[in-house]
Amino acid sequence: MKKTDVARLCREDVVDLIGRQWMLITAGTPDHLGTMTASWGGVGFLWNKPVAFVFIRPERHTYDFAECNARMTLSFFDEAYRSVLQFCGTKSGRDCDKVAETGLTPTLLQGGGVAFEQARLVIEGRKLYRAEMTAERFLDQSILAQWYGDHPGGSMHTVYVLEIENVYEQE
Ligand SMILES: Cc1cc2nc3c(=O)[nH]c(=O)nc-3n(C[C@H](O)[C@H](O)[C@H](O)COP(=O)(O)O)c2cc1C
Repeated sequence: MKKTDVARLCREDVVDLIGRQWMLITAGTPDHLGTMTASWGGVGFLWNKPVAFVFIRPERHTYDFAECNARMTLSFFDEAYRSVLQFCGTKSGRDCDKVAETGLTPTLLQGGGVAFEQARLVIEGRKLYRAEMTAERFLDQSILAQWYGDHPGGSMHTVYVLEIENVYEQE
């Protein structure tokens, strides 16, 4: 992976990138990491910094790594990796070794984060802010009902705002 400019992200349609192509959120070290598929999040500008934001339910194994580490990475892959992303989005690292099962190769980035050699694009971010969603803050109650109501997929998400420190792409 080679470091590139944050402006590299301007060449991406981030709604499509995150929402349809999906990403792996990863935290930890190459030998001890949590990684999971995510399709909710964004990239923007906050506190005069380029930022990314992600939403992780506390039930996720990856949540424990997100909480304990200063950095997270967002890895994006070619379509050929769709089945890997499906796997990492339906299995928990509590029950299997995702690295061994997928053949992904963890790599320590220059900035100290961990991502995967096979990724075509990686965002490395430092946690700036975290917040737990609460029911009373939903202005549209239908969202609350749909995602956290009678058919809960788990607890409400924790949102993390990350300062984008580095962006990497394939050589
Ligand atoms: C397409 C897709 C998108 C997902 N997006 C999110 C997300 O944004 N936030 C989240 O908490 N879980 C999301 N998930 C669910 C986690 O990836 C899934 O629960 C995973 O098994 C957690 O793995 P872990 O327990 O090893 O962390 C998504 C799953 C899929 C398949």
